[in-house]
Formats: sequence, C-alpha cells, structure tokens
Amino acid sequence: MTKEIIRIAVDGPSGAGKSTIAKKVAAGLGIDYIDTGAMYRAVAYRLLRDRVELTDESAVEKLLADTDVDLAMGEVLLNGEALGDKIRTPEVSKMASACSALPAVREKLVQLQKKMGREKSVIMDGRDIGTNVLTDAEFKFFLTASTHERAVRRYKELKEKGQDVTLEQVERDIEERDRNDSTRELNPLRKAKDAVEIDSTRLSIEEVADVILNAVTKGR
Ligand code: DC
Repeated sequence: MTKEIIRIAVDGPSGAGKSTIAKKVAAGLGIDYIDTGAMYRAVAYRLLRDRVELTDESAVEKLLADTDVDLAMGEVLLNGEALGDKIRTPEVSKMASACSALPAVREKLVQLQKKMGREKSVIMDGRDIGTNVLTDAEFKFFLTASTHERAVRRYKELKEKGQDVTLEQVERDIEERDRNDSTRELNPLRKAKDAVEIDSTRLSIEEVADVILNAVTKGR
C-alpha cells in the first residue's frame, strides 16, 4: 500500500504565529515541519558573518556555492553547524528579509524546499509556499494578525531570550519587513487564491492549530 502524502502550506507576515502553530500541527499529525524562514535566516547569518555586501553579486554567488542549508531535529544547519538562536536576532531578521529578495538566494532555497516537499508529508511555513514552492499542496492557509499584535508577540519572544529591544523598535522592524517581503519583485508575500485565511489577532495558538488540524483531518 502506498502511503498518502499530504502537504500543508502556511504563509503569512512576520509574527503571525506561523512557526509555533505549524510545529503543533506537525506534532498532531505526525509529519515533518519545515521552517523556510530559518533557511533564509541561515543564509543571512552567513552573509553577515562573512561581511558580504548584498550588492556584490559575485561575492554572494560564491558564498552560496559554498553554503549548504539543511534542517534536522527542528534546527537549521549551515554547512553542518546547528545555528540555534543565533539566527533569531533583529540583525539577522533584517538581513534575511533583505537577502530573500535576491534571485540567486531564492533560486537556491526554493529548489531545496520543493525537493523537501516531494519526499514526504510536510507542513511548510514561509511567505511564498502556497504561491510558489508547494503550488499543488493539498491544504493552504494564510495567517494574519494586526501589526500591533504581531509586534507584541515578537517583543515578548525576544525579551524572553534576553534581548535588549523596545516594543516600538520591534513594531517598526515588523512594518519594514512586511513592506520588503510583500513588495519585492520575486515571489512576494501573497495569499494564494486557494488558501484559507485565518486572522489570529484574537485567537490563541491552540485555537488556530485546531482550525488547521480540523480542516486537514476532515479533508483527508
Ligand atoms: O519567517 P521568518 O521571519 O523566519 O523569515 C525571515 C525572512 O525570510 C522573511 O523576512 C522573509 C524571508 N522569507 C521568504 O522570503 N520566503 C519564505 N518562504 C520564508 C521567509
């Protein structure tokens, strides 16, 4: 008997709760969670570490040729090195948003993500999963929440990690990333026509995860 493969795409802006919710759904269904944002963050981390300017096309291409990004046990690996929280700083967030607009970066990571989605059942979150990476996913969701609510959530997360940030700064960063991610030319953040939109402003993580789990279990 061949095992049924299901692919779930979850897109939405920064701080809409995508990753926490996707992790819960993955655990509930016993499938893999693929955090595509972490993959862009790993490339961003390397660009910052090696002090490569995004305008230096050949340096970026050289770095990419020598960059292996993988996901294992809920961690992103950069050339085999687990990066942990090093990719969760505001500096890396900004660079991830900036470098994700480069065709060379997207080409490399999208190809990897498409391959991951062919091999097994997955829930993948990002910005262009429903519109570009897993266009034929069995289930597509688009998570939103007000900018203020997303900033409050991200602020609490960063504070818990001991980072020195203010709510105003986090809200400004989120607005800037929203603008970058949704206005870039290549695969911008956009709701797929066939995605179900969920506004999580007044919903808990559990409630949103349940909406997705119910839809998937019923629709299988
Ligand atoms: O989901 P995140 O905040 O970890 O993502 C970091 C950045 O990566 C985000 O600002 C935009 C980019 N990204 C993207 O362009 N496409 C994806 N599928 C996922 C993330």
